[in-house]
Amino acid sequence: MLATAPVLFSADRDSYELAVREIREEFGREVRIERVSADLGRITDNAPPVADLAAACDTGRIVFVRHLTVEIASFPPDDVPPAHELAELILAELPKHPQALAVQTWTDGAGTGGTYYHLLDEALGARGIAVSRAEQDVVVSCFVSQRQVLIGLNRLADSLADWPGGRMRLARSDDRVSRSEFKLEEAIRTFHLGLKPGGKGLDLGASPGGWTRILRQYEQEVWSVDPGALDPRLDSDRRIHHVATTAGEFFRRNDVRFDVVVNDMRMDQVMSARVMLDAVPHLRRGALAVVTLKGGGRNPLDAARRGMDVLAKEYDVLHARQLHHNRREITVVARAR
Ligand SMILES: C[S@@+](CC[C@H](N)C(=O)[O-])C[C@H]1O[C@@H](n2cnc3c(N)ncnc32)[C@H](O)[C@@H]1O
Repeated sequence: MLATAPVLFSADRDSYELAVREIREEFGREVRIERVSADLGRITDNAPPVADLAAACDTGRIVFVRHLTVEIASFPPDDVPPAHELAELILAELPKHPQALAVQTWTDGAGTGGTYYHLLDEALGARGIAVSRAEQDVVVSCFVSQRQVLIGLNRLADSLADWPGGRMRLARSDDRVSRSEFKLEEAIRTFHLGLKPGGKGLDLGASPGGWTRILRQYEQEVWSVDPGALDPRLDSDRRIHHVATTAGEFFRRNDVRFDVVVNDMRMDQVMSARVMLDAVPHLRRGALAVVTLKGGGRNPLDAARRGMDVLAKEYDVLHARQLHHNRREITVVARAR
């Protein structure tokens, strides 16, 4: 269906140019791209099929794109057709009348575009379609800015994230011990990482314990390695073992084998990836790894690729992406061989 239509892609505003470079490297220089807003781009000419673009992103060949949809219409804000016409337009793009659709709206600021959600909900509802914000096979996207309103349509399977423009919003619980928690939570949910309850987890660079807390929520027993302290609220949990030392020192003395290793250490991409290689003898075969490769440097894309090349010596890299909660870093998910 939608193969030759323009494709809309979201990226962090500071990484937009990196996303453009990746798309061109993957699909050729004749792909034409224009910037729609700070974190949204449009592939106007020679857009690849969205499924091909999604596959390149899903496997980590493209890292800085976090959401995809296929544009089916655009309007000036003061000339948007009535909602029932928008519903017609959406349904005309689909091969058969759907029972349910997700509708995801966002704006070029921090807003949610909620008015459009309700309009589309009502209009599609009047056509007998159940509308929700997520968890449907097909997603209607609606991006709202001062200059235009864009309507997109895409299979969830090719969208990269089940959130408006890839902006995952997580509830901030009172128990939260660090902002970093959201990064691990987002990675687990986005990539559907199945952590088997009762597993043993290694958290490298754990202080103050946000990722440790998330691993505990997924019922892992956690060894939390960091010279820095853990939040006192974690003290009473007997399935958390704080080892107050560096990763290198820990590896010299450890004899536990882990099912999952996570690494949020503050060091450059290649050094962090090397620590992951040092972790391998301490992992069960097939163990899952989640690592943030940090730091930009002058060329963050090449540095990220160098980090992934190091990881690839001992791991199969499953996913690599700059998620919504990443700052100047990417998250890589890999499996130990
Ligand atoms: C961004 S913080 C981690 C935040 C943590 N993931 C959380 O959610 O609370 C980075 C941590 O890496 C630790 N770190 C840096 N180098 C390390 C090393 N060689 N071994 C262990 N920890 C290290 C620092 O002490 C720092 O606490």
